[in-house]
Amino acid sequence: MTETKRDLVAEIKRLKQERSALILGHYYQLPEVQDIADFVGDSLELSCRAATTPAKVLLFCGVYFMAETAAVLSPEKAVVIPDLQAGCPLAAMITPEALKAKRSQLREAVVVTYVNTTAAVKAESDIVCTSANGPKVVRSLPPDSTILFVPDRNLGQWVASQCPGRRLILWDGYCPIHDQIRPEDILQAKKEHPEAQVLAHPECRPEVLALADRVGSTSGILRFAREGSAREYIIVTEEGLLHQLRKENPGKEFYLASPRLICPDMKRITLDKVYQALRFLEPRVEIPAPVRERAVLAVKRMLATG
Ligand code: 13P
Repeated sequence: MTETKRDLVAEIKRLKQERSALILGHYYQLPEVQDIADFVGDSLELSCRAATTPAKVLLFCGVYFMAETAAVLSPEKAVVIPDLQAGCPLAAMITPEALKAKRSQLREAVVVTYVNTTAAVKAESDIVCTSANGPKVVRSLPPDSTILFVPDRNLGQWVASQCPGRRLILWDGYCPIHDQIRPEDILQAKKEHPEAQVLAHPECRPEVLALADRVGSTSGILRFAREGSAREYIIVTEEGLLHQLRKENPGKEFYLASPRLICPDMKRITLDKVYQALRFLEPRVEIPAPVRERAVLAVKRMLATG
């Protein structure tokens, strides 16, 4: 680390104390941003931590919908995101209007909404899920329900495969980073590393997941690697996760399935922007009260499933 970076990190730590702020970071963040976070986790863990921390200021290092979920759960806290432009193309694939229109065609359907959506879309939903608890959330619903699963078709198809007998109607959205991976990418990586196990995120296409040894959320992948007996792993999710995988497992080798697995939105958050955000406590994430009051019900229903 350069001297300037060391000074920046020291300043961030000092300001964090002064502001009584908690820094939350997702596993897809730049390594140096993950390293200054008080807590690094997957979407579900970050939501839980946002809901329970006594800190008055949450500095959220991740994409906008994640910071918004924290603000939905903690209206009394100041939620700050270092770059307002850190969006999520998957979240942009569904609007509250489009969801309302679809819902009115399927009168009896229960809407299960992936956390990668805006608060306004969550407000039109019955229950939220993440990639860590999708099957559990679906199983918590009455067995004869028709489920409208939005907006990730790949995650929806994987959840359906884990819940035999459940009827899921899928929205046609996808994460462009995970969805671009093809079976050939995995076969090539396996050719290069024949002993490696393949660990994939459920936002990948079904034909890619079919080639994986294990499928899980980012924290699921971390657990598989920690507990697995293999020494080498091919990772099929955003490259930021490699930082934690390598930190936690110094004796194991991790290979990214493709160099294309980089989310430019996640990488918008830099140490410099973290410092500026802490200094000015801006940009803030603000959600209109009527939206928040409805969105929080769907998020809390998810948290109540345990
Ligand atoms: P996780 O909940 O598995 O961390 O996934 C977040 C995400 O946005 C995947 O693209």
